[in-house]
Amino acid sequence: MCEEKHWESDQLRRYDLDLKQIPRLRYNDPKVDELIGQNKPVVITDSNIIKTAQENWTPEYLEHNLGNVGHNVFLSKTHKFKYFDRTKMLSRSNPQGIDFVPPTKETKLKIGEFMKKLKEWKPGNDRLYLQQPLNDTVGPSLVRDFVRFDWEYVGQKQNKHNWGPLTSNLLLISQEGNVTPCHYDEQQNFFGQVYGYKRCILFPPSDFECLYPHPVHHPHDRQSMVDFDCPDYTRFPKFKNAKGFETVLKPGDVLYIPIYWWHHVESLMKGGPTISVNFWYKGGPTSLEYPLKDHQKIAITRNVEKMLLEVLQDPREVGPLLRSMVMGRYTE
Ligand code: FUM
Ligand code: FE
Repeated sequence: MCEEKHWESDQLRRYDLDLKQIPRLRYNDPKVDELIGQNKPVVITDSNIIKTAQENWTPEYLEHNLGNVGHNVFLSKTHKFKYFDRTKMLSRSNPQGIDFVPPTKETKLKIGEFMKKLKEWKPGNDRLYLQQPLNDTVGPSLVRDFVRFDWEYVGQKQNKHNWGPLTSNLLLISQEGNVTPCHYDEQQNFFGQVYGYKRCILFPPSDFECLYPHPVHHPHDRQSMVDFDCPDYTRFPKFKNAKGFETVLKPGDVLYIPIYWWHHVESLMKGGPTISVNFWYKGGPTSLEYPLKDHQKIAITRNVEKMLLEVLQDPREVGPLLRSMVMGRYTE
């Protein structure tokens, strides 16, 4: 069946990447479970998972019903909102940290102020991205919509695929054209698109070497060092070999982003604001079946890096020790 397309290709940013499409499957297609079982991404269509949000959550509705408290808003001078972990920054209480200038600012804005800034935005202003966990501050109408999500369907997936508990639901309200640069999360994610269109580019955990994550102790831990807008092929030559998958999500779609899969997310340009809500689940208990899966090897790599920092006490010593251990001994 051919689906109607509501966006134009000039609304997508251009990257030097060779991309395949992520499969789109109806919620009741048995292949959905096959793909989730193999830790592979899939766009689940025609479900009721976030139907109440899709029907109600427009920017105007959220403005009136999200709740009158300050919400987390990131501000950026560019279209990129690269996540960073404040606890890994150098400070008096963290002398092991890294000296680092944050690329975005974090502030609290009431939803009315946020929407006003969004409407009045002009080039030269900071770009805005609201990212707020849904908690007990949200208004009663939103709570009603939220409890009417299809929890039975997502609960079945959680049980069938042995995921751990739901940890949070993050609400994302983005200005058009914003980009969340390529990173991976240590949780399973059902990413629900509520309003507007988002393009998601995913890479498997086996592309770890092609995407060059920052060191684990760096504030940009889990983020790729490669700037997709202008890749530095001298520093990151294997980026050419990255094998990506993409999709453009429309309202009502839910994308399964498997744990440890890399993802880059962009709100389409010239498409107005976008609204998404994600469901993060802890990974299930890992079975030690050999050969180990790619994502299990990433977990091991992370632990080795953490252990080295713990014993060396200085992040600057981790690289030299790893190099002396590997170069010429484990390299061809
Ligand atoms: O911008 C985004 O929607 C990012 C989502 C994610 O990283 O899970
Ligand atoms: Fe993410």
